[in-house]
Amino acid sequence: MTTETSATAPAAAHAAPGIDLFSQEFAADPFPVYAQLRRSAPVHYDPATKLWLVSRDEDIRQVLLEPATYRNDNALGSVVPLRLPALRILDRAGFKTLPPALFNNSGDTHPVLRGAVLRLFSAQQVRAALPMVERITHEELDLMAEALDTTGHHDFAQGPARRIPVRVMLEMLGVPEEARADITTVADWTDAFITLFWGRTDKDRQRELALQVADFYRWLSELATRSDAPDDSLLGALARVRMPDGSPVPPEVAVAVCSNLMVAGHVTTSQMISTAVYRALESDGQWRALAQDPGLAGGWTEETLRREPSLTAWRRVTSRATTLGGVDLPEGAEILLMFTSAGTDPDAYEEPERICPMRKAGRGHLGFGLGRHRCPGGELARVEGRVVLSAAAARFPDLRLATRERPPFLELVSFRAPTRLEVTRTLSRTQGTPYAAKGSTAP
Ligand code: HEM
Repeated sequence: MTTETSATAPAAAHAAPGIDLFSQEFAADPFPVYAQLRRSAPVHYDPATKLWLVSRDEDIRQVLLEPATYRNDNALGSVVPLRLPALRILDRAGFKTLPPALFNNSGDTHPVLRGAVLRLFSAQQVRAALPMVERITHEELDLMAEALDTTGHHDFAQGPARRIPVRVMLEMLGVPEEARADITTVADWTDAFITLFWGRTDKDRQRELALQVADFYRWLSELATRSDAPDDSLLGALARVRMPDGSPVPPEVAVAVCSNLMVAGHVTTSQMISTAVYRALESDGQWRALAQDPGLAGGWTEETLRREPSLTAWRRVTSRATTLGGVDLPEGAEILLMFTSAGTDPDAYEEPERICPMRKAGRGHLGFGLGRHRCPGGELARVEGRVVLSAAAARFPDLRLATRERPPFLELVSFRAPTRLEVTRTLSRTQGTPYAAKGSTAP
């Protein structure tokens, strides 16, 4: 977890645009870069990150379906090297490395650990969780209503989009009430986690982030070693799992599974909700359409997952020399599968730029991956997206963006979403002046 990626540099880089995967420019609008990559260098070596960028839907599917050749051992390594002060802080918390669990496990323990997670997030369990998701959503929208009434505006990304998935995940994992950390603290920890491992950070920033990640790791370790976990919780399920050699799950592996789920289970869902709400509010009449027809919320969520998935890109490493998209890759080549590019590939989708909730091929996208490591939490994420979008639109049909300025986007190699989303309500003439963000050009 704490090691730098170590790609084998190719003899010659392939012709393609200069790309800065960490820039705000790329985060805000990556689509022209993806189009150029797909056209001119679909398997392109990026010297800045030492990663081979794979941008075509077809090539990405091939990689995902050949897990023996393209292993996920490197998926959780930090994309920029971690410096000594950060490493020391993590080390003091007992966090030297995350042993293979799910995201970074190509070995024979993967199927048994994955089996436990699949059971916990099965379609049946997700159906049973629906009333809980709805209750939490309404409670969080109550808080938003209060904020709108008192201040006239609210940050949807930092409010409902961030808080609902954390609360849902704590419930789904069966974290006992007395062991729960504050919602904002958990969200801050996981934000620190993804920034430390997928962001471009200097020594000082790494130090700050490592302090938060160390606290997160200590909390996870306490959680994972509790002996009173109920049978129907994640830890109860892990206690019943037997590794291929018949031994119980070692404590450090249980911590790794918990961390995989805590991070993957809510960060991505929060980001998906922020993006879906932003695009609906930004498009003419779309929010009203969602308010009038809650049935559109499922299709809108699906299109968000296709066109702008929150997990934008994910890594693999080749176990042998191979050829991909006509390009020879050496053994040990680290590659980045650009899911967002796949979702906007015109060879895979008609008019890929259009968000089209009725699109027929919507379920075939790669927003949740494919094959051996396909996301086990996809159904839960879909339900959360549908419930939050339809409930927010029904409750605030007059919601709008407080400013026309593009919101800031997360600048990480593998995650992308608006980090702030100021919203306000359209007031009737008798209700006074609508809120306008300071210095903004409110519509
Ligand atoms: C919008 C929300 C989500 C998105 C976009 C997303 C995306 C993905 C993708 C693309 C993968 C495949 C990674 C690979 O091929 O290596 C994946 C795997 C995974 N996801 Fe999700 N995910 C989301 C929500 C969730 C939720 C709610 C959970 C909670 C259970 C979850 C847990 C996992 C786990 C544990 C894996 C690793 C599975 C394995 O390696 O066997 N994700 N996710």
